[in-house]
Amino acid sequence: VNRARSGGLRLPARLFPALLLPALLLTGCDAAEGALERLSLLRAVSQDPPERFGFGTRAPSDQIAAWSIHVYPDGTGLPAGEGTVQEGADVFARTCASCHGATGTEGPNDRLVGREPWEDAPPRTRTVGNYWGYSTTLYDYIRRAMPQNLPGSLTPDETYAVIAWILHANELIPEDAVMNATTLPAVEMPARDRFVDDDRTGGDTIR
Ligand code: HEC
Repeated sequence: VNRARSGGLRLPARLFPALLLPALLLTGCDAAEGALERLSLLRAVSQDPPERFGFGTRAPSDQIAAWSIHVYPDGTGLPAGEGTVQEGADVFARTCASCHGATGTEGPNDRLVGREPWEDAPPRTRTVGNYWGYSTTLYDYIRRAMPQNLPGSLTPDETYAVIAWILHANELIPEDAVMNATTLPAVEMPARDRFVDDDRTGGDTIR
């Protein structure tokens, strides 16, 4: 314990669990000793750690698949389903507008709609229309994280529909567009070329 920093005898609360186990050990408590053995703390600090610590089980591929919900820029990972701008207006009003505003611009949370280049105008608000490089990220992100109070609650059709609404509101697709696994990746985003590959090698190569 660094007495100078902790000001005498006052110990940070997070130290107590660390002190408790050795204290139990000293008093000869078998349970604590077993726990320590199981946690492999003793072996972890030894010179010759085991190949495996014996925790958990190997994740089966179906479990991995259930968590593997990435959607890539070329559309890989997009599910079946589709939605229109009109249907999306309804989904947005019901499940998104309370946080993002009736037109996706008012907030209180992130502004989703806007085409003005974010480099120019303070306060440099980044929107889907001026900052997102790939349209498919909308599917990945919304399925993963939105609506923020109930992520995962939208069906694929509702997700495609609300994406259609957002893209239309950003003037990127016409009002009669239908979004699905084929049409969504084909939408080109204005910010596509506002990003460059990070080829810095370290040192002064900041740009
Ligand atoms: C309870 C409030 C809430 C609701 C409801 C909600 N959002 Fe969000 N949303 C947020 C917050 C907060 C963020 C910023 C999250 C962050 O930066 O980590 C966000 C971020 C986003 C972004 C990313 C914005 C950006 O440019 O980074 C998108 C897209 C989005 N929401 C879409 C939706 C859609 C579509 C719905 C409805 C299906 C929805 N949100 C419902 C609160 C909400």
